[in-house]
Amino acid sequence: MGDRDAGEDRRTDPDPRSWAGSIRTIEWRDGVVVMIDQRRLPLEEVYVTCRTWQELADSICNMTVRGAPALGVAAAMGMALAARTALAAAGSDPTRFRASLQDATKGLFATRPTAYNLPWALREMEAVWKRDDLAPSEVAAGMERLALKTYEDDLASCRTIGENGAELIRGESPVILTHCNAGALATAGYGTALGVVRSVFARNPRLHVLVDETRPLLQGARLTAWELTREGISMELITDNMAGYFMRKGVITHAVVGADRITANGDVANKVGTYGVSVLAREHGIPFIVAAPFSTVDLSLHDGDDIPIEERDASEVTGYRSERWAPYGVRVRNPAFDVTPAGNVSAIVTERGVARAPYENSLRELGARR
Ligand code: MRU
Repeated sequence: MGDRDAGEDRRTDPDPRSWAGSIRTIEWRDGVVVMIDQRRLPLEEVYVTCRTWQELADSICNMTVRGAPALGVAAAMGMALAARTALAAAGSDPTRFRASLQDATKGLFATRPTAYNLPWALREMEAVWKRDDLAPSEVAAGMERLALKTYEDDLASCRTIGENGAELIRGESPVILTHCNAGALATAGYGTALGVVRSVFARNPRLHVLVDETRPLLQGARLTAWELTREGISMELITDNMAGYFMRKGVITHAVVGADRITANGDVANKVGTYGVSVLAREHGIPFIVAAPFSTVDLSLHDGDDIPIEERDASEVTGYRSERWAPYGVRVRNPAFDVTPAGNVSAIVTERGVARAPYENSLRELGARR
């Protein structure tokens, strides 16, 4: 696999504020998947077109598209692409058709291990293509419909998460700390943690946001800062190690983050550095709020120790893009996520409602709701 085949379309917007609120992260367009290249933001706005599931899998691996809910949408669209090409190659031979879809499922599953939305979406798609009462053409059409529904549902969920979360942000002049990017770019649109920010801002324009830059890939500095500035939401960028300083000063009123996987006991895997923020928030009595769609909740795992944590390339730590600052030969650790224990989490905001401790009970109750 290599991303050389994915097509590129460059466009620049003379006034980025003109399309505030309409960030197009990923779209299904007439049988291809178009996504904004998140590696190039905020300096360049480039769109990549994926025509096969392999191209789409590359785009996940190389972080063109990222963020747990967006990965779920991408995986669903990748399977819809796989169904199209399998139909063209295998015609009405159901065995060959389903064998191709099995390969695509395995390939997409192997792209990134931590975000639960990805295997969740693959399982939803599997429920369609494993139906042996459907002909390949019916399966392909059904998978396309389900991919579009996954996109629409995520968008709707984010808006509801935003409204549910906004209820928890008290005070006349709240200051929210965020980590990584849990915004429109990490979802079908609107965002989870930034969905809460957007909903609070709609009610109270005095809202201010402190944005952790989020080493090593700078999703906060590049992506969250881009989203918030284009919408005119007051924000300041800080380095990750400044969060404690601002908490001790009494500046931060709430921490709101997204999640990549939440286990049955309420442990939360999110971008590395989130755990540190939660410890600081607890020390300073600041509410630590997690915002995520229910497709991030993995009730099959009891606690966070069982969550697979992705280890990424050393080059992300020894430098950034083409610049290198660490000595050659240095040994590096690079876990992309960490686990925040449920005890540090004040609330988990989902589209189904808000879960509170004990999470074993509240998450199971939300799981039973539809
Ligand atoms: O490695 P990334 O950029 O995919 O990590 C993303 C995060 O950790 C986000 O905070 C998380 O997926 C929540 S997105 C709504």
